[in-house]
Amino acid sequence: MTFHTLGIETSCDETAASVLGDTSTIMSSVVSSQIDMHARYGGVVPEIASRAHVELITPVVADALGEAGVEGKDIDLVAATSGPGLIGALLVGLSAAKALALVWDVPFIGVNHLEAHLYASFLEEPDLEFPLVVLLVSGGHTMLIEMRGFGDFEILGSTVDDAAGEAFDKVARYLGMPYPGGPEIDRLAMQGDPQSIKFPRPMRNEGLDFSFSGLKTAVVNHVRKNPDVSAEDVAASFQEAAVDVLLTKAERAVERVGAKGLCLGGGVAANSQLRERALDLSISKGIQVYLPSRSMCTDNAAMVAAAGRRRFVDDGPSSLWLGADPSLKLTS
Ligand code: KG4
Ligand code: ZN
Repeated sequence: MTFHTLGIETSCDETAASVLGDTSTIMSSVVSSQIDMHARYGGVVPEIASRAHVELITPVVADALGEAGVEGKDIDLVAATSGPGLIGALLVGLSAAKALALVWDVPFIGVNHLEAHLYASFLEEPDLEFPLVVLLVSGGHTMLIEMRGFGDFEILGSTVDDAAGEAFDKVARYLGMPYPGGPEIDRLAMQGDPQSIKFPRPMRNEGLDFSFSGLKTAVVNHVRKNPDVSAEDVAASFQEAAVDVLLTKAERAVERVGAKGLCLGGGVAANSQLRERALDLSISKGIQVYLPSRSMCTDNAAMVAAAGRRRFVDDGPSSLWLGADPSLKLTS
């Protein structure tokens, strides 16, 4: 009999629900984005996000069940993101998950959002071999993680200041583009010359930690001094510098731990240039590179269901007393 997990994700500005069959069959994955509600403020407004989650959670869960062709009585486990993220936003998904688990009389499990991003690759490629290095690049986090098995990982490096996605968003905002800026920079960069401006690559040549705030400041200073510079060239040169640093460090991490492969995850892993360069790395250096589809890189609930299912097998259910933790850390 198929084991059905309902996953719920509400940590930021996406209300998402998904039904997973067994460990890796995505029966449905519904993502309702609130981007339009936040765009005019240039970023996510926490109170607006919480209110939108309250309105959307019931229809999104209903859609996920409907698309999967199952009913509440068919669900065996309810998983929801418990952190990190916006406290009000997290509480909506967590409370809904606990209520559904109580009504359906099934176990509930809280999921770390970062761990969920790590497991996204396995939904499309269940046979990936360990040890793996995962480059997790999102709006709030930039990390290199060694994965030795399910539930067995170690953070090798992380950003000392801004996350990569945050740098994309801030540069885009400075160039007058709407939130979220990553996809806008990606599009604009296609028409620019990536070699036209030599932006700095902070901390590129040593270690596995990242720094993006100096690169962002260099972009702002360059545009200030050269007001007529082409926005396309700025976008392409900024993206070139960011991608160069990300992949140089990822390659270093793969060599250091003797990894069998490199996986990308998080919203920035949807970036065209990052994906193209990662594939170049696989050809030139013989590193096995796995790129999840774009919809699995950005926030979704299928990855939450997958991480919840794996954790449930190893550790059992969470208590219904589990609270939301806005700064939850990634631990094995
Ligand atoms: O993982 P995610 O959906 O949410 C978080 O957990 O943060 O990542 C969102 C981030 C945003 O900063 C967004 O600008 C960035 O991912 N992003 C991109 C692209 N698509 C989304 N950055 C660069 N290029 C893209 N194509
Ligand atoms: Zn995320």
